[in-house]
Amino acid sequence: MTSFIEKLPKVELHMHIEGSLEPELMMTLAEKNGVALPYKNLDEIKAAYQFKDLTDFVNLYLQGTEVIRSAEDFHTLTVAYLKKCQQQNVQHAEVFCDIRTYTDRGFAPDMVIEGIASGFKTGYEELGITGGMIPCFIRHLGLDAAKEDWALLKRFKNDILGIGLAAVEVPFPPSMFSDLFKEVRDEGLKILAHAGEEGDASYIWSAIKDLKVDRIDHGISCLDDPDLVEYLQKHQTPLTVCPCSNTSLHVVKEMKDHPIRQMLDLGLNVTINSDDPAHFGAYLQENMQAVHDECGVSESELVQMTADAIAASFADDARKTELNNKLSSFV
Ligand code: ADE
Ligand code: ZN
Repeated sequence: MTSFIEKLPKVELHMHIEGSLEPELMMTLAEKNGVALPYKNLDEIKAAYQFKDLTDFVNLYLQGTEVIRSAEDFHTLTVAYLKKCQQQNVQHAEVFCDIRTYTDRGFAPDMVIEGIASGFKTGYEELGITGGMIPCFIRHLGLDAAKEDWALLKRFKNDILGIGLAAVEVPFPPSMFSDLFKEVRDEGLKILAHAGEEGDASYIWSAIKDLKVDRIDHGISCLDDPDLVEYLQKHQTPLTVCPCSNTSLHVVKEMKDHPIRQMLDLGLNVTINSDDPAHFGAYLQENMQAVHDECGVSESELVQMTADAIAASFADDARKTELNNKLSSFV
């Protein structure tokens, strides 16, 4: 089965670029940029990657971003992730980022956008991998901060795929950002929101009704609301599920209890993703392996979810056809 998952041409739709910052690269960048880390060695960094919950995780994740201080650093980080994609046969990747973390430290947003864009350029030219970036508003910093971010991001609308909503979910429902996301949509950008990770089903409803999202990130609490399940069955809203993230952040107790089995049985439009692979010790392949081994997800379901990920991606039609052809040849 490992070999089946290894060879499957995969698509990743939910991955935060700083969540792919491996401890080794964190140490290298800290040294390069003269940043003092609160860890003496790699083992101490790895030992710190134990999280109580989402808030605890977000704090440590944001601390790790201190070592990223130039567009070149973002380029290095993006290429490192895309090389990992190549090793795992991930053909297309859409990655989340944010600018706020860096603008708050006095950096220009260009550092983030240009660094990641140049990483994707290298990834396409040297590895044949396509994709793009989706900056997120940091929801727990509130609406005014998000408005400032949007004012800066508008200038980059041709460099990004859309805008997402991430970080600490409760008590910051998508509805707080309704008017702002309408402006995002009016600029022709896609809209995404983390919803139903730690939040209940009302957060998913709000992402659908108030933001009119193109995809829901996580969405696993939908099972608590039969009306929502019926809506998701009917509309086939894509849900980017991240199994190893959910167990690492104790949103789900054990992998064998992960709702993905039930979500698939209900005919929901589910894809598998890694979220923050360096922090949770699992890239896309390991996430697929985990749900295969522990939730009874079959080879044909992995293929179906990959086809659904291609359809739910923001790749253009020509690239979607190419990805579907690769998938068909594999099958
Ligand atoms: N940012 C990085 N990982 C995240 C997650 N799992 N939920 C919300 N925001 C995040
Ligand atoms: Zn996420």
